[in-house]
Amino acid sequence: MDRRSFLAAGVATVLASPRAIAQMKMDEMPGMDMGGHTGHDMDGAPKSAAMLPEGQALRELPLLANEANSPRLFRANLTAEPAMVRFADGLDTPILGYNGMSPGPLIEVTEGDRVEIVFTNQIPEETSTIHWHGMPVPADQDGNPMDPVATGTERTYSFELPEGTAGSYWYHPHPHGKTAEQVYRGLAGAFVVKPKADPIPAEYGDTVLVFTDLRLAADGTMPDNTMVDLMNGRVGDHVLVNGQKNPALSVPFGTKRRFRFYNATNARFLRLSFDGAPMTIIGTDGGLLEAPVAAKDVLLSPAERLELIVSFEKPGTVTLNTLDYDRGWMGAGRPADAGLALLTVNVSDTPAEAFPPLPEKLRPIAQLGTPAVSRRFVFTETMTMSATDMQMGFLINGAAFDMGRIDVVSKTGQVELWEIVNKADMDHPFHVHGTQFQVVEHERGGQVSKPAYLGWKDTVNVARGETVRLLLRQDRPGRRMYHCHILEHEQLGMMGVIDVQA
Ligand code: C2O
Ligand code: CU
Ligand code: CU
Repeated sequence: MDRRSFLAAGVATVLASPRAIAQMKMDEMPGMDMGGHTGHDMDGAPKSAAMLPEGQALRELPLLANEANSPRLFRANLTAEPAMVRFADGLDTPILGYNGMSPGPLIEVTEGDRVEIVFTNQIPEETSTIHWHGMPVPADQDGNPMDPVATGTERTYSFELPEGTAGSYWYHPHPHGKTAEQVYRGLAGAFVVKPKADPIPAEYGDTVLVFTDLRLAADGTMPDNTMVDLMNGRVGDHVLVNGQKNPALSVPFGTKRRFRFYNATNARFLRLSFDGAPMTIIGTDGGLLEAPVAAKDVLLSPAERLELIVSFEKPGTVTLNTLDYDRGWMGAGRPADAGLALLTVNVSDTPAEAFPPLPEKLRPIAQLGTPAVSRRFVFTETMTMSATDMQMGFLINGAAFDMGRIDVVSKTGQVELWEIVNKADMDHPFHVHGTQFQVVEHERGGQVSKPAYLGWKDTVNVARGETVRLLLRQDRPGRRMYHCHILEHEQLGMMGVIDVQA
């Protein structure tokens, strides 16, 4: 029996303990019982146990307060801790939050600043870290799985943010074997580094939208991961924006608004478009593009970010919707990807004051140039079955992650060509720590295509059957992770270690 028919036969069902990883005994398999996973039934119809209120005013993410009183220094505290929130009427949901919130507070600093954040881990019985996703920080400040922070203890992360590094970064835990669960339970936040001189008119505002994905059981708790979650990555029942379901925003017509989109879900691919308002891409993970690029829709794979300008040109209601995107789903219960309204914008008929035009040039981006070495990373999925056992593996170059192994040795300052080859049945968003890269081309079925723009990125989707070639350079020595950012895949082995030598 091949993998797909095996899974479709309904064996891919429940795994009670997340610690069992993608392995279970045949005699423990509960057949067709979807046991507790209320979100997606075998017929594919979403069945939500809990109703979430919609249409509340979009809340701005609270800023993490700067406690330093000297210029160019940002000092603050972040605690990862259990908290109780109310997503659905009358139901309390235990979550993990940074300073009690999910998403965590918005961190906003300016390039050139020094950052010192005291992290306290108050998650009972679990280690954690804070990883500064995409940020140019030293390897020993990056919250890698090699530097765990034990429960009940604290550590300080400190780093400088050089000029030219303004961008839309984020932060989340990265402990060995627990990242997926700590993130879906609520630990993730946005970290915006502002440029000293911003070419985008201040009148456009700067609205951070963090997308997360929530699954709630009938009693208000978040169910553990099932076998389906481990294979596909966990997809919830509700896509939230800044912690709210389909919140509302009101603007006068003629408004141009700057948005930063963050895909902070474990595994949800978001193909998005504003129905009734044109979008222009101005930036990627690592900051502004050279020039604005108009877009009908955008694909944001897990961990990717985009900066956009949206023009609300007519009075009426505009919605931010998800469109269909087939990222390769194993087994039953492919979630509904299309037709979700994530945000509703009420455009009033009072005209806005005139908005200054978007500049035609945003900033120069130097091409990384000729690579000194090239490397190849092949993604595969394996499933082994015996009469008693089934195991899924997510591998890079045939190997599962091993914290004690160095997979690649490289040198600081060296431009490298990385070829990421996806030979698996699912899309895998590829991410590397410590730097930003430039995508050179995509190849699929012998067809080579160039990206629509040159931009700095730390995460790129590698569609199934596709090869992505990118250029990168690591400027700081130390050990760095690279992995699939479907967090369940990262946890099941789709991660490696590069040792960058000085
Ligand atoms: Cu968001 Cu290893 O990272
Ligand atoms: Cu990262
Ligand atoms: Cu993956």
